[in-house]
Amino acid sequence: MENFTFYSPTYFVFGRGKEEETGHYVKRFGGSKVLIHYGGGSVKRSGLLDRVKASLEGEGLEYVELGGVKPNPRSGLVYEGIELCRNEGVDFVLAVGGGSTIDSSKAIAAGAIYDGDFWDFYQGKAIDRALPVGTILTIAAAGSEGSPDSVITKEEGMFKRGATGEGIRPAFSILNPELTQTLPAYQTACGATDIMAHVFERYFTNSKDVEITDRLCEAVLLTMVKEVPRVIADPDNYEARANIMWAGMVAHNNTCGVGREQDWSSHDIEHELSAVYDCAHGAGLAVIFPAWMRYTVEHNPMRFAQIAVRLWGCQMDFENPLNTALQGIEAFKSFLGSIGMPVSFGELGAKEEDIPAMAEKSCFGDGRSGTLGSFVQLGKEDVENIYRLAL
Ligand code: NZQ
Ligand code: ZN
Repeated sequence: MENFTFYSPTYFVFGRGKEEETGHYVKRFGGSKVLIHYGGGSVKRSGLLDRVKASLEGEGLEYVELGGVKPNPRSGLVYEGIELCRNEGVDFVLAVGGGSTIDSSKAIAAGAIYDGDFWDFYQGKAIDRALPVGTILTIAAAGSEGSPDSVITKEEGMFKRGATGEGIRPAFSILNPELTQTLPAYQTACGATDIMAHVFERYFTNSKDVEITDRLCEAVLLTMVKEVPRVIADPDNYEARANIMWAGMVAHNNTCGVGREQDWSSHDIEHELSAVYDCAHGAGLAVIFPAWMRYTVEHNPMRFAQIAVRLWGCQMDFENPLNTALQGIEAFKSFLGSIGMPVSFGELGAKEEDIPAMAEKSCFGDGRSGTLGSFVQLGKEDVENIYRLAL
């Protein structure tokens, strides 16, 4: 096991009706003037936004609001939010929505008290300070409710890049599984794929003997394989929604990652797809991750065989673990197909002729050094090959 630090101070409030307590938590974490940030309208249609406002008003808190965050959130709205915070004297940013809304809120919170261009953070500068952020999560997916990360797309050049830093880890996150019951099945499945991908990014590692973390990863994956089909069949299944919602947090606050090297190249490779074609991040991962697995499996077939046995119930072929490993990858792919995810490039609207440019951009564009990943270090040609395997 590698040395590590783990500090995950977000205050989680989980369960039915908990959004009614938003005002209390904003006050507790020091807010007096709030920016309520949200997406394209789902929180208005569900009545959630009104309930949140009522809760703030109940605590005598002032607020301004900014909606319109798009999936794969853009820099333009972040600049607008930063201006609004400065002009209005906002001291707390409240995200009401999914990962895109939370990430946009984090970017605004960091940019509002930073003298330079907020994009500096998305080119590698750590975010040490930001206005406090609270979240009310409406989709189990990105894990941004418990992570110190934010992913934004710069409209100029459509660079989708991540920033990180303890300054943007949410002060509190309210997780009410009921709020996810209005999700279309496709978005539920995209979110589930992202959650599983967050675990796989950590599972495929060169670090040895991290049994505890392996087993935690497997617990999250087994939970997803059990609960996602139940939710697709019955969108109002509260218990299954609840398990998935907490799995999404555990998958990405690094509980499943400590003590080991992590990979993350599938995420970097996917981010080009969601930047260029504006597909859902989870859908892009459904296409890329199995291709990445096929491309890297020979680096450590036993690692892939282990998860094939423990997650998908494959029989171990001791003479040739590669066979087991490949069966596991196929099982993952068919699971994704069974929950309605795309499994090929074309289904995303992606085009073969764009591959060289996307590979170049993922390895060299805007702050990148030429290679991706750590389980297997990938250069531009490898990334091109993975895109082609996904065709
Ligand atoms: O915008 P609205 O109208 O709210 O609709 C959203 C959006 O269209 C809809 N939705 C959300 N909750 C709903 C709902 N519709 C009905 N009922 C509800 N309860 O779902 C759509 C997708 O929302 P979005 O916020 O984009 O989803 P997600 O949480 O998957 O976030 C994706 C973004 O997070 C980034 C991704 O790259 C992508 O940009 N990631 C962020 C990470 C982080 N900050 O730690 C890590 C991840 O790996 C990921 O990269
Ligand atoms: Zn992700």
